[in-house]
Amino acid sequence: WLFMTVKQQIKLLFENRRGEYISGEELAQTLNVSRAAIWKAVKSLKDEGYAIAAATNKGYMLSKDSDMLSAEAISSFLEQSDFPLKIEVYKSVVSTNSIAKERASQNEAEGLVILAENQTAGKGRMGRSFYSPASSGIYMSILLRPKPPMVEAIKLTTAAAVAVSRAIEKLSDKKPQIKWVNDIYIGGKKVCGILTEGAVSMESGDLEYAVLGIGINVFDPQDGFPNEIENIANSVFGKKRASLRNELVAETLNQFIKIYSDIGNDDYYNEYKKRSFVIGKEINVIKGKLSDTATVLDIDEGCRLKVRFSDGCEQYLSSGEISIRMPEK
Ligand code: BTN
Repeated sequence: WLFMTVKQQIKLLFENRRGEYISGEELAQTLNVSRAAIWKAVKSLKDEGYAIAAATNKGYMLSKDSDMLSAEAISSFLEQSDFPLKIEVYKSVVSTNSIAKERASQNEAEGLVILAENQTAGKGRMGRSFYSPASSGIYMSILLRPKPPMVEAIKLTTAAAVAVSRAIEKLSDKKPQIKWVNDIYIGGKKVCGILTEGAVSMESGDLEYAVLGIGINVFDPQDGFPNEIENIANSVFGKKRASLRNELVAETLNQFIKIYSDIGNDDYYNEYKKRSFVIGKEINVIKGKLSDTATVLDIDEGCRLKVRFSDGCEQYLSSGEISIRMPEK
């Protein structure tokens, strides 16, 4: 509270009392500043796009329906933990992963979370892009500095897939499923992708830092999904509704922190397998120009797929080398 600006303090008060009028006098007294300072801060929040109503004799109110991403709104849904979260929200960035990596290289500590309303060049896996329109998605990157002997980056990715699935399940009536390695599907279409990037120390070979990038289509984009992905992309909630993005961010962080603080424990990996819809399925394995059918037997702890090809030969497949297609039905 002490180190917050007037604007941040007002945001926090508004978020905690959404849909309720707070008088200018109360705000001025609580924050120990002039009524003019309150007015100025409220005006600046309105200019940023916050839905704030003002009424004579009543004061100011943040609409129940406000869906602006903010660190203060997210914090109001966070559970207590020792993890040192530092949340920053931006309007528009090239890629939240790029910002988090840049900050990591400037020695930023573990726990930085970069969020943006939109990304102009959101990155996907394998050099693909991630469609990141304003106001309908969550584009979030978490900076981690896992301590040795931990952790291969793949574990962070699978842990995040489990965390996002739990969060979606908690806040919606949807049944998300994980498509190996780290895509989350609802109703046969993708709602979330995860891209982990990092740097390994040349001296020790340990992971110096990892940036866990999570992109979730929370609502249908205003103008729909672009043609290229229309048939394969979905959103968690469909039509836009009141403040759910902040809550979904917080719940994802709550769940991820729980798993991360005990990442040596295999429970999340068993949960990953249970939530994963490839096991037992027949898939098309694509490697370069070659493609073959195989049955998925298991996913091992390094997140490799154990498969049996049609000739009976069994193999472990890594996600970096192959991609898979599921049959239509
Ligand atoms: C994929 O589906 O291939 C992975 C998509 C990852 C998208 C997220 S959005 C936040 C973070 N910043 C990025 O540029 N990419 C990740």
